Amino acid sequence: MVSKVPFVDLKAQYQSLRNEMNATVLEVLESAQFVGGPWLDRFEKAFASYVGAGQAVGTSSGTSAIELSLKALGIGPGDDVIVPTNSFFATAEAVSNVGATPLFADVNADTFHIDIASAEKVLTSRSRVIIPVHLYGWALDMAPIEQFAKKHNLAIIEDAAQAHGVERNGRRVGSSGHFTCFSFYPGKNLGAYGEAGAVTTNDAKLAERLCLYRDHGSPSKYRHTVVGTNGRLDSLQAAVLSVKLPHLDHWNRSRHQHAERYAHGLKGTGVLTPLIPSLGEHNFHLFVIRTPRRDQLRDYLVAQGISCSIHYPTPLHLTEAYQALGAPRVGSFPVSERLATEILSLPMFPELSVEQIDYTASKITEFFEVVGRASTEGKETATAIR
Ligand SMILES: Cc1ncc(COP(=O)(O)O)c(C=O)c1O
Repeated sequence: MVSKVPFVDLKAQYQSLRNEMNATVLEVLESAQFVGGPWLDRFEKAFASYVGAGQAVGTSSGTSAIELSLKALGIGPGDDVIVPTNSFFATAEAVSNVGATPLFADVNADTFHIDIASAEKVLTSRSRVIIPVHLYGWALDMAPIEQFAKKHNLAIIEDAAQAHGVERNGRRVGSSGHFTCFSFYPGKNLGAYGEAGAVTTNDAKLAERLCLYRDHGSPSKYRHTVVGTNGRLDSLQAAVLSVKLPHLDHWNRSRHQHAERYAHGLKGTGVLTPLIPSLGEHNFHLFVIRTPRRDQLRDYLVAQGISCSIHYPTPLHLTEAYQALGAPRVGSFPVSERLATEILSLPMFPELSVEQIDYTASKITEFFEVVGRASTEGKETATAIR
């Protein structure tokens, strides 16, 4: 009998890898090689080969991956960078941290991806980069973004913090040649046991520049040619990620199956379930439903032992930090602002059981029966902005 459903279960995954993981971590400890060295090399090569990129550069986090990419492209004060306003804070924060200004754009309500028409509207003569986000693990259609970038002479940095192992139009995310930034935060589809990230690219010169910024701007010991930072990926995390990488496709397949089961179980409940693209195009890092009764539903599920979350409760332009910096006010990006009040992320992780999915779906059904089925009016407003 299910009575609790966690949002993620990192312990379950560790248990499934326990022997190999313990042996590998012990090997790193015995080697006392904690920074750089063979563990990092091995992971960078394996990850580059996995995504089909020329190079992978390990970084200390997904945030530093974006910051280092911006620095390697020479972005700084006076430059504008277009970012979607429905994303994790770090997408914009990285831009601010290099001294540039994020320009927020709205998203598409079906895909949750950046809306190019909105990006066109916010573009300025100082715009140098666009950072599209493969949000929730759904690979973006890059064609319109590449056209837009070409037309306005913008570089592209892909934020693939949530999009490990997905592909679109036969191209795996990370292999496009643009800087593509991954996060290996523990709860991600490929997660470290601490902070970690990576940038992939096909440009060896840019990768070299990025490595320079990653390591105090230092091409050799105590020689510093530019002001960089410490943005390195440590050996323990690299070793952990090397153990996990061969399991990623299998984990992504499980998540996709869970998404299909959720969608089936939630049919007719009144919640809007996400579109389910083919296996491979979406890794369901997050399974995000929509309902105008979001807050009531969340409270109901939490009371039934089901953990839920919201990604994200405040569009980036409306966060206190960016309001203080003069970002556009309420009403500027209606789709994202509306989504922020309706979206709810259900428990999702590879080890989630069929019973846990069915329990969650049954409690959502029960909610609408107990509290009253979502009114026709409610349903119409939820779909009106799709
Ligand atoms: C979309 C997005 N961008 C950037 C990041 C930043 O990654 P990290 O937490 O590894 O710095 C995250 C992580 O949560 C993310 O989800």
